[in-house]
Amino acid sequence: MLNSQVDEIKSKLDIVDIISEYIQLKQAGTNWKAPCPFHNEKTPSFMVSRDKQIFHCFGCGEGGDAFTFVQKIENIEFPEALRLLADKAGVKLKKVDQTMVSQKTKLMDILKLTAEFFHKVLLSSKEGIIARNYIAKRKLNPETVSDFKIGYAPDSWDILLNLLRKKGFKDNDIFLAGLEVKNDRGQLYDRFRQRLMFPISDHNGNIVGFTGRILDESRENQGGKYVNTPQTMIYNKSLVVFGLDKAKSEIRKKDLAVVVEGNMDVIASHQAGVTNVIASSGTALTQEQLKILQRYTNNIALCFDADLAGQVAAERGIDTALSLGINVSVITLPKEIGGKTVKDPDDCIKQGVEHWQQAISEAKSIMEFYFDKVFEQFDKNNPIQKKEIAARLLKQIAKIADKVEQNHWLGKLAEKLDVPANILQETFNNLKVKNEYQKTEPRIENIAVKNREVVLAEQLFALIFKYPQNIAYLVDHLEKEMLPLNELQKIYTELVMYYNNNSGFDYFEFEKIFANQDQEIVKILSTLLLLADKDFFNFTEEQVGTEIINILCELKKSYLVKKLKQVQQLISEAEKNRDSRQIEELSKDFSALSQQLQGLKV
Ligand code: UTP
Ligand code: MN
Repeated sequence: MLNSQVDEIKSKLDIVDIISEYIQLKQAGTNWKAPCPFHNEKTPSFMVSRDKQIFHCFGCGEGGDAFTFVQKIENIEFPEALRLLADKAGVKLKKVDQTMVSQKTKLMDILKLTAEFFHKVLLSSKEGIIARNYIAKRKLNPETVSDFKIGYAPDSWDILLNLLRKKGFKDNDIFLAGLEVKNDRGQLYDRFRQRLMFPISDHNGNIVGFTGRILDESRENQGGKYVNTPQTMIYNKSLVVFGLDKAKSEIRKKDLAVVVEGNMDVIASHQAGVTNVIASSGTALTQEQLKILQRYTNNIALCFDADLAGQVAAERGIDTALSLGINVSVITLPKEIGGKTVKDPDDCIKQGVEHWQQAISEAKSIMEFYFDKVFEQFDKNNPIQKKEIAARLLKQIAKIADKVEQNHWLGKLAEKLDVPANILQETFNNLKVKNEYQKTEPRIENIAVKNREVVLAEQLFALIFKYPQNIAYLVDHLEKEMLPLNELQKIYTELVMYYNNNSGFDYFEFEKIFANQDQEIVKILSTLLLLADKDFFNFTEEQVGTEIINILCELKKSYLVKKLKQVQQLISEAEKNRDSRQIEELSKDFSALSQQLQGLKV
């Protein structure tokens, strides 16, 4: 049954069209050709055959049919690829064997149903009136509410839970979808209550999570302005881009993605007809997000809020974008229009969409933006500040990948600073030599960028050696597996034994244990003692205690996250083998781990 559906889908789709949605194919004889999306290359060795409906890369050996391609490029399993391509082909999938419905697909079904429920509550329930009034106040029209499937989560601890149970979903799956919180007694209760609900979709339009906005701002301390779905098997905050499913075709058409901070800004902009707009959701754009955007365009225009947090987040995102070769520009909103303050795109659009359109069309290239900012901040007639201007802007110019463009900005800087071009060029070359030196010395990087868990664990031991009265607490709360390095685990094992056999702690006695067996560890121990004197010499008892608790919490958190990833990997494998018992077992592990993680609340 399944095979015939796969064949039906294949017969309705053309692999050339499918692949063209991701990369630009060029015709080469009867075939199509492109640089391979699965490995790095300059000359294209990736071929697509329309006759045979297959692809093959002669560089890396990757190949297969449309299903293989979509699975590989979207990093999804067969069941999701089946769903995705069935949608594109307009084929309605028959109810298939339960084991074929992957865990992820099940979670997506739960979220879809939930979104429909919240939407209905908003549109037609009695208590939805608060949300309807709010929608009216924010000037969202009915089409927008329906396009974005905006909803309302009612004031109840279990209405959603009971509804989903009635539809036949298991508690564990409902929990894994991120919709419930477990209390101390292990009972579930609805996470989202009395909030305006925005579904978050992946770029294919599958709902993967929610963000819920508080309506009564005076209650903001009760869980924050927005509550989001936690990390789940299908919701990864650093992968999704809010609004991309609705914006992607216009982004491709305009060859530009406008990035704003707030989800409300995206919605307002789409409602006003400017639809190549997506949100970074208040954080720096990650490399993964930018790579997904790059499928549609190589140009992004950022519009960030004037506050400092916004600027910092944007700047981190900018460097990542530049390193990927993306052209970045910056949109500046007018501070006010007609006497009304403008804080964000939403405010701007309220004063007339033409203001927003104009601001977008006047976006400055990132270099122009940096030039203006630095020249505003420093006085070029003061020799010391002049040096500062040069230093700051040369650093930015060095990030540009293209030589011609780089030269353009060097010339401009020389002109504006009134410095002979050759002098500036010389300073620039020295700077570049330094950069390149750093690049060809990966060992420096390795040493400088110590793994975070290692840093934490070292601090923890340093604290304990200096303030050994805390050993009892440590032994009660630290498990060996939470430590990142073999050596640190060894030290800990000995420390626990030492603690059990002795009263009190004497560092030099402890060190003797290793003196004859492991010089490497003796070296580590003495470094740790130094670290303690360097970082914690004047801590109060209370500060020491808090620090230890915080570090333990962080270590436990990263340990749990690592375990979660492992279990997720095992689930994918079990799905490949269609081992439903294994899947169920593993899902329970996943659920227990994520509950522990949520319990940490850090
Ligand atoms: P904003 O505070 O600018 O929200 O945060 P907004 O979207 O403009 O909402 P309105 O206009 O006040 O209703 C920007 C983004 O940061 C994330 C959300 O994604 C939000 O859209 N955010 C903000 C959170 O995740 N949690 C918060 O508590 C606040
Ligand atoms: Mn806003």
